[in-house]
Amino acid sequence: MNRETVLELNHIGVQFGNRKVLDDIHVQVKAGEFIGLIGPNGAGKTTLLRVILGLLSPTKGSLQISGKPVLHGNRAVGYVPQKIHLDPNTPLRARDLVGLGLDGHRFGIPLPSRKRRQQIDEVLSAVDALSFADAPVGRLSGGEQQRLLIAQALLTNPRILLLDEPLSNLDIRSAYEVVRLVSRIGREKGIAVIMVAHDMNPLLSSMDKVLYLAKGHAVMGEVENVIQSDVLSELYGYEVEVLRVRGRVLVVGGEETDLDVLDLVEGSHCNGGDVMIQ
Ligand SMILES: Nc1ncnc2c1ncn2[C@@H]1O[C@H](COP(=O)(O)OP(=O)(O)OP(=O)(O)O)[C@@H](O)[C@H]1O
Ligand SMILES: [Mg+2]
Repeated sequence: MNRETVLELNHIGVQFGNRKVLDDIHVQVKAGEFIGLIGPNGAGKTTLLRVILGLLSPTKGSLQISGKPVLHGNRAVGYVPQKIHLDPNTPLRARDLVGLGLDGHRFGIPLPSRKRRQQIDEVLSAVDALSFADAPVGRLSGGEQQRLLIAQALLTNPRILLLDEPLSNLDIRSAYEVVRLVSRIGREKGIAVIMVAHDMNPLLSSMDKVLYLAKGHAVMGEVENVIQSDVLSELYGYEVEVLRVRGRVLVVGGEETDLDVLDLVEGSHCNGGDVMIQ
């Protein structure tokens, strides 16, 4: 299938002072593709999202969204922040939280209330949240709140949806649900999804490609081609090993003799240089 390229990163580099955080990131993302953005702490994942959002100008290179230069506040890019902290006693209802996504973009001209309600209902339905649309948001579970944030990001009909560690506060079941939901919405609406995750396992069966960042460099491709000991060793610049255990993936490695767990698998422990899978 010949799908439209929605995002092009052309040799992007980002430097803070004399510290290079991203170096020569060259990537194309097509409509409807689900990309898992994986990498250890400090690899530059959030920095890359900020570049795509137009919040940070790259030091080197350029980027285009649907063939156009990136603007700050671009409606073509939806953004889902990590969990928001909500007062359990806030009177804000689920649909009010989602509606906040409309207001920031309308230059103060309110939409007629019927149209507004219809748009909010559409996105609530897309994330299967109609059943708790009128519940106070502070009382909802982490997974339910996460779905509302996704609904909010969908209100502007984005071409690209960026999610920064949306799974980090969720239990494993809710994590899989959110991944499946986002993957389905992306496919149905042709939205490219870039989801940041530390643990790639919940994404394994949904992502089309992995964008693995380490030491400022990136490698992108199909999971089985990228998540390989030799590919990741070259990226890290030292020996790492990819272990596949009961359908899950664990990346371990060490610069000298100690093993570090680079991608922690749910239910595993790193203990004094040993990796124990439970
Ligand atoms: N505005 C800034 N000024 C200076 N350094 C920065 C700035 N923003 C990010 N950095 C540095 O860039 C590096 C990459 O940060 P970034 O937040 O992108 O990492 P990350 O991959 O998202 O990590 P994490 O998994 O911990 O969220 C970090 O070392 C961080 O300290
Ligand atoms: Mg981050």
